[in-house]
Amino acid sequence: MCGIVGYIGRRDAVPVLLEGLRSLEYRGYDSAGLAVIYRNRLQVTKTAGRVQDLRDRVSERTKATVGIGHTRWATHGEPNDINAHPHTDAEGRIAVVHNGIIENAEQLRDALTGRGVKLASDTDTEALAHMIAAEATEGTPLEDAVRRTLRRVDGTYGLVVLDTQNPNELVVARNGSPIVLGIGESEMFVASDVAALVRYTKQVVYLDDAEVATVHAADYTTASLDEREPGGARKTPTTVEAEAGDYELGSFENYMRKEIYEQPEALRRALRGRLDERFATAKLGGIDLDARQLRSIRQVKFLGCGSAYYAGQMGAVLTEELARIPSDAEPASEFRYRNPVVDPDTLYVAVSQSGETLDTLMAVQELRRKGGQVIGAVNVVGSAIGRECGHGVFLHAGPEIAVCSTKALTNMAASFALLALLLGRVRDLSAASGQRIVAGMRALPGQLDEVLAAEEEITEVARRFAGAEHMFFIGRVRGWPVAREGAQKLKEVSYVHAEAYQAAELKHGPLALIDSSMPSVVVVPADDLQSKNISTIEQIKARGGPVIAVTSADLPTGLADAVIRVPRAEPELEPLLLNVPLQLLAYHVAVKLGRDIDKPRNLAKSVTVE
Ligand code: G6P
Repeated sequence: MCGIVGYIGRRDAVPVLLEGLRSLEYRGYDSAGLAVIYRNRLQVTKTAGRVQDLRDRVSERTKATVGIGHTRWATHGEPNDINAHPHTDAEGRIAVVHNGIIENAEQLRDALTGRGVKLASDTDTEALAHMIAAEATEGTPLEDAVRRTLRRVDGTYGLVVLDTQNPNELVVARNGSPIVLGIGESEMFVASDVAALVRYTKQVVYLDDAEVATVHAADYTTASLDEREPGGARKTPTTVEAEAGDYELGSFENYMRKEIYEQPEALRRALRGRLDERFATAKLGGIDLDARQLRSIRQVKFLGCGSAYYAGQMGAVLTEELARIPSDAEPASEFRYRNPVVDPDTLYVAVSQSGETLDTLMAVQELRRKGGQVIGAVNVVGSAIGRECGHGVFLHAGPEIAVCSTKALTNMAASFALLALLLGRVRDLSAASGQRIVAGMRALPGQLDEVLAAEEEITEVARRFAGAEHMFFIGRVRGWPVAREGAQKLKEVSYVHAEAYQAAELKHGPLALIDSSMPSVVVVPADDLQSKNISTIEQIKARGGPVIAVTSADLPTGLADAVIRVPRAEPELEPLLLNVPLQLLAYHVAVKLGRDIDKPRNLAKSVTVE
């Protein structure tokens, strides 16, 4: 949520900052801004709107070799030109870009106003600019001024500070919101996400919470926020694996469709080296639990938000089926706020693509405080949730840019199938059943290719139903989390109102809403509940409701108004296939309605605030 970039070196900073912001725009896109030092003065350009609007506003005459930039998803103050970052002090000496939330902002703003400072914006960030300027007295290193300011700040931040009186450095700090330094040849980059750096360098330094860094073109120092070691320390860089191309669209028209199409390959990566034919089980070295410890788990609980929560529901169904361990999923936000009973024999699984979602991170911290056993299922290596958990399963989906999660969700479900298989095989799942699942998983990537090959038919169905104002998504047991995720996708990207219901619950109320204007998408796996699902379709049809069946089964001809078929997989694994046509359905409804596919209104890719 929100993107940060910074540059210091020999190049023209403006294009570097704009390009960095473009690659981070998926993290927030309601306003954007940048500040550079030009002829010893701060030059700030900012605007409500997209990075392109900012690009249009920046004067061509602005040349600089140092600067900072920001793309915003509003929290404090509405999205407008004034509230856009960077924020400056009254003299225009200091500029700050910031991600996160300052919790005592009100108090800090009041104290500044009391001292006669005039605040220009409604933001928490502006207070920091004034406070740093007040601390940056003659002879005080900028890093010390930042450090002193941050000691009075409660909340989360990733921030970069630019000072006209110290034009050869940027000061960077982190607490809860990611910051990474990119190391070039006599030039340095700063960003909230490696996406903005990979085109320039693979050598990066991730800051930890409560760390601060001073960055010069040719060097950097890192230190704890509490105190600086004499001379400064220097964290060793790591090499990022991602390629610049992983973040580019290539021949695709948007990231959502690109990432839908990356699923077979992403799934192959998630399975690589993890399926063990010989012992008919899975190998998940990262969870670091031996057979005895795995056997002592009495319950599994998946915690996540949005699509990660629905993926957790898929995981809970798989775990109960394959391992016969009571399992469920809960939104991480509910969990953290309800003073949960933490059971030492429960395995908690924190599920998150970004590894940054605040509610999930807080749930993990609550669990750790109470001695709970928690592992992460995260996509972004080095992210806060991954580090907080210490152990877990990496999703290996590759960078996911579109706000709507697709390939990460598929890899979450696949990782939970692996975990369920592992837990099952240390218990009562027979070797023969284990072999069946291992073979079924090996077949999945190829089957996903087949699902994607049916895009044209799905597009046709989407066109037929794009005029609907509301839609139901119906599923039962294995199909239920699939229906929930399908409804979520449609809402997020097309803004069509969608609700998911368990098939049997329909008759207890929602059936009253069925008429010819209310299409229902019914998920029908080819399993022992198939005939029950067919009855559900008949009930809907009897009330005049149009039905789109998404199925691996052979349904009676004419039963549904439209049928989207997926190949038959091992029954437990079918949710992974059934989910994908629903992604394409949501996508094509949104295209038909002319929506902004990668940047749906009011949403952000990772929500690092409450
Ligand atoms: C946001 C995104 C969703 C995502 C959720 C959880 O709400 O818009 O697409 O599912 O966050 O994100 P995470 O990174 O924790 O998986």
